[in-house]
Amino acid sequence: MGESLNGLKRNQMCGELRESHVGQKVTVMGWVQRKRNLGSLVFIDLRDRTGLLQVVFGEEINKEAFEKADLAKSEYCIAVTGEIIKREAPNANLPTGMVELKGESIKILSESETPPIYIKEDLDASENIRLKYRYLDLRRPDMQKILMIRHKAAKVVRDYLDENGFLEMETPMLTKSTPEGARDYLVPSRNYPGMFYALPQSPQIFKQLLMVSGFDRYFQIVKCFRDEDLRANRQPEFTQIDLEMSFVELDDVIALNEGLIKRVFKEVGDVEVNLPIRRMPYAEAMDKYGSDKPDLRFGMEIKNITEAVRGTEFAVFKNAIENGGSVRAIVAENSADMGRKKLDKLGEFVKTYKAKGLAWIAYKEGEIKSPISKFFDEEGMNKIIEAAGAKPGDLILIVADMDSVVLQSLGALRLELAKELGILENNKEFNFVWITEFPLLEYDEEEQRYVALHHPFTAPMDEDLQYLDTDPKRVRAKAYDIVLNGEELGGGSIRIHDTKLQEKMFSLLGFTQESAWERFGFLLEAFKYGPPPHGGLAYGLDRMIMFLAGTDNIKDVIAFPKNQNAYCPMSEAPNVVEEKQLKELGIGIAKNS
Ligand code: AMO
Ligand code: AMP
Repeated sequence: MGESLNGLKRNQMCGELRESHVGQKVTVMGWVQRKRNLGSLVFIDLRDRTGLLQVVFGEEINKEAFEKADLAKSEYCIAVTGEIIKREAPNANLPTGMVELKGESIKILSESETPPIYIKEDLDASENIRLKYRYLDLRRPDMQKILMIRHKAAKVVRDYLDENGFLEMETPMLTKSTPEGARDYLVPSRNYPGMFYALPQSPQIFKQLLMVSGFDRYFQIVKCFRDEDLRANRQPEFTQIDLEMSFVELDDVIALNEGLIKRVFKEVGDVEVNLPIRRMPYAEAMDKYGSDKPDLRFGMEIKNITEAVRGTEFAVFKNAIENGGSVRAIVAENSADMGRKKLDKLGEFVKTYKAKGLAWIAYKEGEIKSPISKFFDEEGMNKIIEAAGAKPGDLILIVADMDSVVLQSLGALRLELAKELGILENNKEFNFVWITEFPLLEYDEEEQRYVALHHPFTAPMDEDLQYLDTDPKRVRAKAYDIVLNGEELGGGSIRIHDTKLQEKMFSLLGFTQESAWERFGFLLEAFKYGPPPHGGLAYGLDRMIMFLAGTDNIKDVIAFPKNQNAYCPMSEAPNVVEEKQLKELGIGIAKNS
């Protein structure tokens, strides 16, 4: 049975009491972290979201309160009134450790069963149990801290954008398919049986329409929905900081966003971001790091050694070069002694990226070990070593194949080696980079047509317009991604605001006039009425918080996340619905599904 407050008011938070409060009469409310009965005294560590406070009850202080306090157990919700006194034995590990609360009266507001998980930091309970009892999991101080960081980051973003003339505006959740390229979540319509709304993958089209309306600067902290394969940093519903600006070019959008990044990381994470953030064209990122989101906290750049091995009789290299591919290498410093087992493991690793094998050269002063040494004389080996930029003691790792396979596998191997060799351990750097000059189009082998690398409204670079007809893959886009420590934090572009160019883009993407209108007609129609030049960007807020909170699990930064199978063990969503609901929607469930 829980007591009611009956007029009792909380006037202090547990974690905020200090020596300066000594002598004050306070009322605090919270949960019992721990109770100890020492015979004539009962100690309770009381917890609220600000921290812990020790409360002491004694027969001498107040007999009734003392007896009631002894009934309290872990996670009971209680209110205590009394005087703040100086603690006889201070606890230096607790911010409130200099004081304690003399428990003069206590209300047991509600009792608690023994909780299925411990309410403590660094809990090692299984994820499933934590998600099932998420409301208890969220009582843990480390989870509370993260969600407070999230609140603060969102507030700093709002303040910054408000100061810069942005209006926060909402866009529909029940809408039509948006162009971000993942699978849609669909919502069946009762009014139009057989028809569906799509939940937005982003507010992309609507924010462009708001520019047509003249709102000029828009932002929104908004849920987006994408039905895609989940990885460590992806959730089916996630949050974007989405923004769009009119009358701007690429440099304007980047400058505005650099201000935002600097402010958020300083105010929330006390991280100093030096501006301007460096920029790297996509082609350079791919060439040096095999990735469009390079982790620049360490070097280990990919080196093209094709010229050094040209003319070799080693069939693997020879064939790759003859087929228009390349031979490239990365160098693991001071790793020439790496054992066979580890080398074999790395060989297996690159195979998951479609590489057919991994050649290696362990280079020591006066001694070279390599499975390919039989194909190269000393001069040939030296050429490779020089082209790779290796010094004695280093290990050279080589892949030969089509460029795309070579770059992808060496890019991934570079990250794997950094992990394996502990290169990033204790690295506290926040290394930002803008990746720019992305290709506008990508050829989709499966669909046998070009697809937009970002989305179909991304503008081509002016200097590349001339290749749109003759050599579309050469055209670069006015697109940019902001990358932090090898993760894509956000991305955006300057948009096409010219109807003719937009139509051309659709035709390059293989849309007929009709199918383009079917999907994006309302945007094309709007663009007949004086659309301003505009562009924008969206950040993954969840990913930003992961960095600010120092976690690599996206579920840690979301109050009620889904598990890896897009399921919520707490609410048990998704779930079946009543036959009647299906009927109203005109939906039948296929028997064998
Ligand atoms: P994009 O598709 O790159 O751009 O998304 C922007 C950012 O959102 C984050 N993100 C995700 N975070 C968690 N889980 C997911 N499943 C997920 N998918 C994306 C990433 C990403 O950088 N409309 C454009 C933006 C624009 O052009 O203005 C867009 O949505 O951090
Ligand atoms: P083999 O002569 O077949 O034993 O190959 C010699 C070495 O070349 C082995 O270490 C293979 O792992 C490596 N190798 C095979 N295919 C490739 C490739 N595509 N790129 C780089 N090395 C390869």
